[in-house]
Amino acid sequence: MSDPKPLTGQKALVTGANSGIGRGVAIAFGQAGADVVVNYVAGDDSANAVVDRIKQSGGNAIVHKADVSSEDEVGVMFDRVVREFGTIDILVNNAGLQRDSDFADMTLEKWNKVLGVNLTGQFLSSRAAIREFLRRGVVASVSRAAGKIICISSVHQVIPWAGHANYATSKGGIKLLMESMAQELAPTHIRVNGIAPGAIKTPINTSAWSTPDALKNLLTLIPYGRIGLPEDIARAATWLASDDSDYVVGTTLFVDGGMTLCPGFSTNG
Ligand code: BGC
Repeated sequence: MSDPKPLTGQKALVTGANSGIGRGVAIAFGQAGADVVVNYVAGDDSANAVVDRIKQSGGNAIVHKADVSSEDEVGVMFDRVVREFGTIDILVNNAGLQRDSDFADMTLEKWNKVLGVNLTGQFLSSRAAIREFLRRGVVASVSRAAGKIICISSVHQVIPWAGHANYATSKGGIKLLMESMAQELAPTHIRVNGIAPGAIKTPINTSAWSTPDALKNLLTLIPYGRIGLPEDIARAATWLASDDSDYVVGTTLFVDGGMTLCPGFSTNG
């Protein structure tokens, strides 16, 4: 990327930004010149630490606590963003969680929780952002697009996952939510895209990388031979949010070290 600050003058909201991938994206956006809203639902200290980190590198950021699965809380959050920042240019739908269970034992509560945060949360935040994008339209001095939405999905939008049916269903839903929004809104110059991370070293999957045995096992699924880092996703998100990707519409960028290449087939089949 030629411009070291490709998001200068833009206002961005990253959901679930106090840890993991969201944290990485928020910090990268701050470094890229955006004003950043660090949304979180629990963990005041970690959210404030992300803001401090952005400010230390010369950026501007605020925290906002809200549960993205609550229509009311999302409404209050977007009202505040527009009040404090004037508008919003970029939404990163990142907030997500796992509540794993064998299928026969999966409770409705676990099902609803995961679908509520991972999928309904992306709907609610996207709808609020899109209303503001449509109200404001394109401001050519800021961006060629009227707004950008990045839906953080997962390789599990295409890879079925035993023991995680609620999670995989939410990610499959994100794929078509993202694509349907992209198709509907492209004529208004709102760009909607997705990122499908593979195994990224974050708190959501600690058990998959925190012991040598677990990591060795995990690496059999990753042709590129290393676990991903939040920065790998942050760089992709910065590009998708910038005008460098202005003609990229409705695409999912898989950032997974080749996890979706069916590595089992390299020695079988
Ligand atoms: C999940 C992780 C998992 C990765 C690859 C992600 O979407 O949240 O727990 O390690 O997919 O399977």
